[in-house]
Formats: sequence, structure tokens, C-alpha cells
Amino acid sequence: MKKSLIAVSISFTLLNMPGVAQAVGDIGAGQVKSGSCASCHGADGNSMMPLFPKLAEQNEDYLVKQLEAFKDGSRSDTTMNSMVVGLSEQDMQDIAAFYAAQAVSENPLPQVNPDDLDDIDDDNSLSESAKTAAKQALQDRQKALMTMGYDVYRNGNLDNEISACIACHGPNGEGNEPAAFPALKGQHAGYLAKTLTDFKTDKRSNNPDNMMHMIAKKMNEEEITAISYYVSAIK
Ligand code: HEC
Ligand code: HEC
Repeated sequence: MKKSLIAVSISFTLLNMPGVAQAVGDIGAGQVKSGSCASCHGADGNSMMPLFPKLAEQNEDYLVKQLEAFKDGSRSDTTMNSMVVGLSEQDMQDIAAFYAAQAVSENPLPQVNPDDLDDIDDDNSLSESAKTAAKQALQDRQKALMTMGYDVYRNGNLDNEISACIACHGPNGEGNEPAAFPALKGQHAGYLAKTLTDFKTDKRSNNPDNMMHMIAKKMNEEEITAISYYVSAIK
């Protein structure tokens, strides 16, 4: 008890000492500086397009780390590498503070692709009852993917040694701010699947100890889809 009190008072002292305090982002300045990002990521960090990640409510240190990685080229994405060229360290801190303070929007529950349902309707070789059965099978598969995603997120998969995501990304996908583990909840399923595939293939390899690569390379395509659906629907 005593020890932890001492630890707390020491850290307060450090925080109050000029020069030792970490650079802290300014939310107001960040809002202004994020103007050029809004066309893709949304004015409040809630992008509309599935491959443009939402940045709202994302952990601040994680955002700074990614911006630095785009700038030094250790994370490569043609668009983002050029977007950060003019950003200073303070700009990154301010922008990250702004997005971290926004609330992430909810996604609708993942649905069966309406085009797939239309394809079944248009298939003249199928009887009406076969069409109904085929549509039901698609709905069932969608439900099964959500259940699988829930299960892998919480329990991992012993068979292929996938670690449970909950351990680092939190029970509600909120991430872990002190450790700079990103929040996942409410993220677009399309971006989640894309970036998990990038980890799997080592296209995205700047993560600490390459731990997301180690995890994603054990996931098959079905598990990636399942987890992306499930996580996108966490509120
Ligand atoms: C033309 C569209 C576009 C613009 C403008 C843009 N971005 Fe991005 N941003 C993207 C895309 C696409 C990705 C996903 C890259 C990938 O798949 O690895 C991304 C990824 C990111 C990420 C990583 C998010 C994560 O969860 O890992 C951050 C942070 C980010 N952008 C911040 C910014 C900031 C700050 C600006 C403005 C200075 C900006 N972006 C402008 C398209 C854009
Ligand atoms: C041991 C801790 C740990 C575990 C377990 C873990 N992750 Fe991660 N995850 C991380 C870290 C750290 C990062 C940030 C990597 C970086 O800095 O680029 C990350 C990043 C991610 C991202 C990228 C987020 C973004 O905004 O771009 C996704 C998606 C993700 N993890 C999904 C998962 C899934 C799904 C699982 C479970 C199958 C999982 N993670 C298990 C530590 C973990």
C-alpha cells in the first residue's frame, strides 16, 4: 500500500517537473490541423468509406505512433505516406489528441451482400423453394461468422494457437491506452480485414515485436472475415 502511494506521488512529481513532462496534444489546434484529413477520415474521425479507417476515439499514443511510422516509411501506404510529409511532431500530437477525444460512430450489423441475394433471385435454374433455401443458407452463414468472430475474439483458437484478442484489445474493443494497443470497436469491417491481411502477409510489419504478424499469420481467411464482422459491430 505504502509502496504504491510513493509510486503515485513520484509520478505526479515527474509530471509536474518542466522538461520531464511529455508533450501533450492540444485538441483545439488538432481540430484545425486535421482539416486536410477530413475528406477521407470524416470531420470528426468517423469516415464513411470501409477502407478509410475511423480515427475517432482511437488511443492517442497509437495514433501518434502510426503517423510517425507513415512519416519514416516503416508503415507503407502511398496515400498516407504523402499526407504526413508536412506534419511536425507537435502537429501529430495535436491531431491525435483531437481524434482521441471524438466518439466513434456505430456501424450497422453486417448484412448479407444484397447483390448475392439478387444473384439467387436471378438464377432461373433454381425453383422458388431452392431460392428460399439458398438465401436462408447465406443468412445462416452470416450468423455463424458473427458467432465465430465472438468466440475467437474472446477465447482465441487453441487448434491453430491464435491468442485471444481480448487480452490486448480489451473486453469491449477499447484497446489499452498506456500500452498503445489500438481500440478496434466500431472500426469498419473492410479496413479490419484489409489490415489483418496486411499483418498476415507482412506488408504491415512495424508493430512491436511483430506480434500482430505472429497472430494474423495463423488466421485463415474465414477467421479474418468473422473477426472483422464481429469487431465492427462492437459498440
Ligand atoms: C485520400 C484519403 C486520405 C487522406 C486525405 C488521409 N488519409 Fe489517413 N488513411 C487513409 C487510408 C486509405 C488509410 C489506411 C492505410 C492502410 O490500409 O494501411 C489511412 C490510415 C490512417 C491512419 C492509421 C489508422 C490506424 O487505425 O492504424 C492514421 C492515423 C491516419 N490515416 C491519419 C491521417 C491524418 C492525420 C490525415 C491528415 C493529415 C490523413 N490520415 C489523411 C486515407 C487518407
Ligand atoms: C499481445 C497483444 C495482442 C493480441 C493478443 C492481439 N493484438 Fe492486435 N494489436 C496489438 C498491437 C500492439 C497492435 C498495434 C500494432 C502497431 O503498432 O502497428 C495491434 C493492432 C491490431 C489491429 C490494427 C488496428 C488498426 O487500427 O489498424 C487489428 C485489426 C488487430 N490488432 C486485431 C487483433 C485481433 C483480431 C486479435 C485476436 C485474434 C488481436 N489483434 C490480438 C496487440 C495485440
